[in-house]
Amino acid sequence: MSLLKLHLLGSPVLRQRSPELAGVDPETQRLIDDMFETMDAAKGVGLAANQVGVAQRVAVIDADGERFAMVNPVLVTTEGRATAEEGCLSIPDVFGDVARPERVVLEALDREGRPFRKEVGGLIARAIQHELDHLDGILFLDHLSPLRRQMLLARWRKEHKDDPSYLKDVEPETSRSG
Ligand code: NI
Repeated sequence: MSLLKLHLLGSPVLRQRSPELAGVDPETQRLIDDMFETMDAAKGVGLAANQVGVAQRVAVIDADGERFAMVNPVLVTTEGRATAEEGCLSIPDVFGDVARPERVVLEALDREGRPFRKEVGGLIARAIQHELDHLDGILFLDHLSPLRRQMLLARWRKEHKDDPSYLKDVEPETSRSG
C-alpha cells in the first residue's frame, strides 16, 4: 500500500462528476486500500477517489466505528434534516455548518464487488453524503450561504497565494475531517 497525494481546492478533478465503474477489479481494490491508508494518515472520516486524483465513483468511510468502501454508491432514500459542522481533507482548516438529510439508505458495491445496502444516521450518514457530493464534483462549501462561502474562499486564497500548487503530501497528525 502507499500514501496518495491529496488534491486541494483548485484542482480541476474535484469539480468533475466521476463516472461509474463497470465493476471491481484488482486495480480498484488497490486504489481502495491506498485510499484507506491515506485517509487514516490524514485522520479523515471519509475520502473520495477524486480527492486523490482518480475520477472514479469510489469512496471510503471510517466514522462511528464503521469502516467500509463504496463503489458506485447511490442514495436510495433520505429522511429528516440536521445541521453540523463539516470540514474536508481537500480544504484544510476550513469549516462550516452544513444542513443535510439526517438518515440515508445507501446502496453500493463493496471492496469485493458485492452489492450491499446500509441504513444509517448521524455522522456516518453525513460522511456518506459528503463523499457522494465529491463524486459529483460538489464541495461542502457549495452548501453554505453565498456570503459565508465568499468569506471562507477569500481567506483560503489569501493563505494560499504563495502556494499555487493543489497537491498535498499526506502527513500524520492533521485535524480529522472528511
Ligand atoms: Ni471532503
